[in-house]
Amino acid sequence: MISGNQLKLLSVLGLLSCASFSVLDGVLRQSDGQGVAQTLTKNKVRSAQSPLHAIMRGSSVAIQTSKLRVLFAVRTNIRNYETKIPALLKTWASVLPEEDLFIVSTKAAQIAMGPSYSFKVQSTECFDDRYVGLTCIEAHIHLFAAQEAGEFDWLFVVDEDVYVQVQNLKEVLSYLDPFAPRLYGTPGCGGDVCKKVGAGLCGGGGYAVSRQSLLRMISNHSTYVRDLMHTPGADTYCDVAVACVAEERELKVESLPGLYPWYMHNRTQFQSTLESLSPLPLSYHYTKPTEMLDIHLQFRKRRKEI
Ligand SMILES: *[C@@H]1O[C@H](CO)[C@@H](O)[C@H](O)[C@H]1NC(C)=O
Ligand SMILES: *[C@@H]1O[C@H](CO)[C@@H](O)[C@H](O)[C@H]1NC(C)=O
Repeated sequence: MISGNQLKLLSVLGLLSCASFSVLDGVLRQSDGQGVAQTLTKNKVRSAQSPLHAIMRGSSVAIQTSKLRVLFAVRTNIRNYETKIPALLKTWASVLPEEDLFIVSTKAAQIAMGPSYSFKVQSTECFDDRYVGLTCIEAHIHLFAAQEAGEFDWLFVVDEDVYVQVQNLKEVLSYLDPFAPRLYGTPGCGGDVCKKVGAGLCGGGGYAVSRQSLLRMISNHSTYVRDLMHTPGADTYCDVAVACVAEERELKVESLPGLYPWYMHNRTQFQSTLESLSPLPLSYHYTKPTEMLDIHLQFRKRRKEI
């Protein structure tokens, strides 16, 4: 695990963003013989409500999933308006009802998606940097979901370069208890940065939090943005900040298998995760716009075959 001092050093060097932190952690953990797989075994299935269990049972749950409202939040900045945002709008996000997707950045924009349709990017007063600006955006996402998005069951938060398998994610979430004090993601990054030592969170593959758990995280609406931005580690890593606040509010960060926060250089392995039934693939971080289309077409083809 990376120490606080190492974090500071990397942050001073400007080496890491909220997202790339996960890569570094992945590399470090690979070098000491660990990795996603091992994280999963360590956080092994304990109850009938655990995600792994859910995934193993998962098949025809169309009824539950159609009733479930999952909000998808994408944090981004102005550099991605012409490339990555259109790629996600054209692929995985195209199946979502418009009111279930929100893209939050520093500057408002209408992303044109053809002659008659454009998607609104929401603005914030956050800095357009890859550091505390992203943590600020993260806090606004939480507040927006809690205050303005209406009723919903789960919030799923990702960077703009994540491919999300919406159907699988909804299926898996439909088995989880939204009242359990949990934040589902990839435990492991920067837990030792928080005052209270917990699992931490590698946010690259996204994380899911129920409405109830989100409300528990936001102790005071008027100070939340400031609070999250002043969490240890938040100056560089929004995922670490989220984990710290969650753990402080006694939410446990629990593993959701099928999130892939690290790029898989072994493309054979990558391909087998796409086709896996256990765990079902949920998200892929570091997906370039062209790869997004490729993954999307593969999923579409597989769905037709079933
Ligand atoms: C929230 O924080 C503000 C500013 O510090 C304070 O005035 C207010 O009383 C707090 N509200 C609650 C419910 O604690
Ligand atoms: C790539 O992944 C496949 C399937 O998981 C595995 O059989 C193969 O050994 C891996 N190749 C390398 C070079 O690690």
